[in-house]
Formats: sequence, C-alpha cells, structure tokens
Amino acid sequence: MALTVTHTIAELRAALAPKRADGIAMVPTMGALHDGHLSLVTAAKKPTVVVSIFVNPTQFAPHEDFDAYPRDLSNDIAKLETVGAPLIFAPTAREIYPHGFATTVTVGGPSAGLETDFRPHFFAGVATVVAKLLLAALPDVAVFGEKDYQQLLVVKRLAKDRGLPTEILGAPIAREADGLALSSRNAYLSAAERAVAGNLNKVLKDVAARAKEMGDLRDAEAYGAAELKAVGFDSVDYVAIRDAETLAPVSDLRCPARVLAAAHIGRTRLIDNMAI
Ligand code: PAF
Repeated sequence: MALTVTHTIAELRAALAPKRADGIAMVPTMGALHDGHLSLVTAAKKPTVVVSIFVNPTQFAPHEDFDAYPRDLSNDIAKLETVGAPLIFAPTAREIYPHGFATTVTVGGPSAGLETDFRPHFFAGVATVVAKLLLAALPDVAVFGEKDYQQLLVVKRLAKDRGLPTEILGAPIAREADGLALSSRNAYLSAAERAVAGNLNKVLKDVAARAKEMGDLRDAEAYGAAELKAVGFDSVDYVAIRDAETLAPVSDLRCPARVLAAAHIGRTRLIDNMAI
C-alpha cells in the first residue's frame, strides 16, 4: 500500500472517510522522526495511522529553536514507509493558523509548574495545535510519548474537558543504549555533549532510588540537581518528584509518583522522567 501525504484538512478528511469504520489512530509529531516516533506508530495498533508532521510555531518562544528545528519531510516519509505505510498530514502554517486566527486553547491542571515555569508559552501552543489536529482527523486514539510526560497529561486533560472522541494513549520512552531518551533535539548535541547527556537518565534513576530508600523527596531532588551539574550539565531547570496522575507536589511516595527533570547542555535543553 502506498503512503499518502495530505496537506489540507479537507484532503485529510477525504482520505480518512473510507477508513473510518475500521478504526483510526493519530500520532502528532513535529517531524525529524526517529525510532521513538516509529514506536508510537507501532503502539497505535489501528488499521489506519495518521502521522501529522508540523513544526508548530506557537509552542516556541521567540528566543527558542523554531528556525533551527530539523525539518526533512522526504526522510520522514522514508522512515514511515518502514513501519507500514501510514497516512501523513503535513499542513502548512496557514492551514493550521488561517488568516485572522484568534482562538487559543489553554489547559489548567497539569500545565501548572515544571515546563510552564521555564516555557510559559508552551502548553497553550501545544493544546491549541493538538486540539486542531484531533478535530481535523477525529481519530479513535492518539498516541503521545511519555518522554513529554507533562504534555501527555495536558493532552489527556484537554481531550476529556473538551469531550473529544479520542482516547489519549501514552507510549513508553524509547532510549539509546546509555539511557538517553530519543529526541529530535539530540541532533544538536556535539560528541562531548552527547557523552554527558546519557547521565540525565542515570541521575534520575539515582534520584528515584534515593527517594525510595531515604524517603526525603526534597533531599532527593536537590541531590539530582547537584549531580546533573557535577556530571557536566550547564544548568538545571528542575528535578522534581510529583504525583504521577496530577503532577501536584508530593511529600511522600504513598501514591504513584514520577521524577521529572529538565537540564541544559550547550544550546540543547533535554527533558526526561521516570516512574518511581
Ligand atoms: O511532542 C511534540 O512533538 C509536539 O509538542 C506535538 C504534540 C506534536 C504538538 O506540536
């Protein structure tokens, strides 16, 4: 079966119409696809999987890497062909944000803190584009990677609160052999930075172990931030242990918890998280 590339919402809906009865999944992406994205396509488990490829300008602040963000549609298409020829939706910015665009979607709850403390524009940009993509395709399920764990919870909240007819699924983080979570932004890392980057996951494992053994979650977070600097990260935005369902701060591990971190190395900001 040949891979179909659509660029407008009308084309996408026409391509999906004959397939709707058998089940449709969507994997929203910003392209620069790697094995982590391909694992989301595999996790989608529906006869038709739509992969959207759109570098969404509203989730980048003016000083961030929107212009530098890697874009290579033909390479993305070649990669998607290896996982069973899904349907691609690659809209222009004008298709998503038509002339006069004036509707922004904001989500409360899990948006609070963490990423929002450092990227206050981010979740409104994500929620606005994800709402548009889900309404364009109306998939039965949509799959998001757990690497962006806060984003996953924000999208779940969005789908529930807006009554979208789409089940939001999280898929496990795909990692390199040294534990580095796969990310399109890993392409920015120099060889020396790449060697340091794998420590993010190792430090999170240590934080989780320390939290479980010692029980003092604030001490475990402070240890994690200090360790990240000690192994070569230039700065740490946060190392935080939170309730896994709500991302509310927790003081003990009686409910399922997650440790989440964001740290900078060179010009690259890396995030990671894991269950405790
Ligand atoms: O995770 C991403 O790649 C993006 O934030 C998303 C969900 C595709 C929205 O632009």
